[in-house]
Amino acid sequence: MAQVVLRDVVKNYGDIYAVDHVSLTVEDGEFVALVGPSGCGKTTTLNLVAGLIELSDGEIFIGDRQVNDLDPKDRDIAMVFQNYALYPNKTIFKNLAFPLKMRKLPGAEIEKKVRAAAKLLDIEHLLERRPRELSGGQQQRVALGRALVRDPRVFLMDEPLSNLDAKLRTQMRAELKRFHQDLNATVIYVTHDQMEAVTMADKMAVMSGGLLQQYDTPERVFEHPVNTFVASFVGSPAMSLVPGRVVGDGTGAAIEGPDGWTCPLSDANARKAQAATGGEIVLGARHSTIRLHREAAPGTVPGRVYTVEPTGDITYAHVDLGSATVVVSVTPDVKLGLDQPVWLEFDQHKLHLFDGKTGMALADA
Ligand SMILES: Nc1ncnc2c1ncn2[C@@H]1O[C@H](COP(=O)(O)OP(=O)(O)OP(=O)(O)O)[C@@H](O)[C@H]1O
Ligand SMILES: [Mg+2]
Repeated sequence: MAQVVLRDVVKNYGDIYAVDHVSLTVEDGEFVALVGPSGCGKTTTLNLVAGLIELSDGEIFIGDRQVNDLDPKDRDIAMVFQNYALYPNKTIFKNLAFPLKMRKLPGAEIEKKVRAAAKLLDIEHLLERRPRELSGGQQQRVALGRALVRDPRVFLMDEPLSNLDAKLRTQMRAELKRFHQDLNATVIYVTHDQMEAVTMADKMAVMSGGLLQQYDTPERVFEHPVNTFVASFVGSPAMSLVPGRVVGDGTGAAIEGPDGWTCPLSDANARKAQAATGGEIVLGARHSTIRLHREAAPGTVPGRVYTVEPTGDITYAHVDLGSATVVVSVTPDVKLGLDQPVWLEFDQHKLHLFDGKTGMALADA
């Protein structure tokens, strides 16, 4: 296995910067998820690493080799795509053996490698079948197997689970994670599903508009999003973002909403808030860090119940503050009526504060 390094990587099509000066290091054996909304540059980044498209600028290293001008077949990588396209008329065994046959490996060695991959992926009993006789998840495992037999230095995967139904996707997610742990493989995994990234990856690279927004462990990205884009992209339901203004000085500062409410701040948050450009600030809070009160209480922000979403274990109440809607989780036994007045209490230790002008997280003062 090998480390992969992207140094100031650019891919532009005229004025469109599909990938805009991205630098990141994937350590040997690490599972890194590239995440972001449609069109943010994930596939382009992966294709650049694979060598399927040419760099506009920058450098890519696999292991200690600079691979900028290296052919895809010489990069020692294996790709698994969304459409994994197995050969329909070949048995699963032959599908797995194909890349090895192309490399003219001796029959005995092919047999050994195919059996080992099949065992790892638990598809040994399927080797004599044809792809159409397999479930979607089984086909997906064959596609993985085909990458696996090649013993590559790096696995590149582009939304490999997106064709599967929700249940199978969750199951395959667990299998992929296990596969990575068993093999200690270097994996770069593209997904637009932040949940897949959070559950599987050692690190996640959050992209938007060709730019790398944040590159860190899922925990760090979740706990310390660097800006409002990352804050609203990672986590489900998304972090609620409420714009307001900083009023008052020093540790007495508070946030005032456009609708006249005031949210007092702890000393630490008040100090942080002073850095907001022109006093414009965005308050960020995850659903589990907000307490819902049925009556006015000191330090709470008034709103009205907009809609209620029961999901089984947790009920999400969407509360309208006038200028923004905030999602709060409550236990299923809490009964709330539409338009019912409620008051929200934000956990000051879990509160996120962003500069209203730049969208960047405000640092501890
Ligand atoms: N050959 C091309 N010519 C012009 N623009 C392109 C080309 N290929 C990609 N782009 C643009 O580059 C940007 C990034 O595309 P890319 O396929 O990397 O996005 P993505 O993050 O993989 O999106 P998705 O989640 O929809 O697959 C998009 O705006 C896309 O329109
Ligand atoms: Mg894509």
